[in-house]
Amino acid sequence: MKQENITTLISAEEIQKRVEELGKKISQDYAGKEITLVCTLKGAFVFTADLARSIDCLIQCEFIRISSYGDATESSGKVNLKLDVAPETIEGKDVIIVEDIVDTGNSIKFLREHLSRYQPASLKVASFLLKEEALQHKVTVDYLAFKVDPLFVIGYGLDYQGYYRDLPYLGVMASSE
Ligand code: IMP
Ligand code: MG
Repeated sequence: MKQENITTLISAEEIQKRVEELGKKISQDYAGKEITLVCTLKGAFVFTADLARSIDCLIQCEFIRISSYGDATESSGKVNLKLDVAPETIEGKDVIIVEDIVDTGNSIKFLREHLSRYQPASLKVASFLLKEEALQHKVTVDYLAFKVDPLFVIGYGLDYQGYYRDLPYLGVMASSE
């Protein structure tokens, strides 16, 4: 698929500005504390990298991998844990789960429950995007960059069949508009 078929929904500049704002807010909320960011692979790797560099606190980054979509464009509803964090990296820590997008809410519900078992001192959620209309669970996103309409979006870490994660902006494929 060629890149000309992609329309920009949120520009790279808007994203950078908003992520910096979120970083400032988190820095204020956690002033004087250390933060453990749990990056949800694969989609949140770009957001995590930018967010981590916008936060003015000591940070540790851990990585967890789940999958729910496979190669489809609609959530299967089933969350699989593919790679776990080491429990001792979470226990007693101020943890922020970093997600690319909250869609049905299945993934974040699973992650909150899963990481709670490792007894963090606190557990919050930062998500780059929220598709509010698609939510099937009551979930709290403590730090949200943008709300989006229920379209299949790509770029800034989000993929279609593994591609387009490297786009610096958020786009929609013309065929899905
Ligand atoms: P949820 O479990 O339904 O909330 O879905 C969350 C996961 O589905 C995200 O972490 C993404 O990996 C994937 N996802 C949901 N919507 C999109 C989209 O529009 N584009 C790409 N991936 C998506
Ligand atoms: Mg995905």
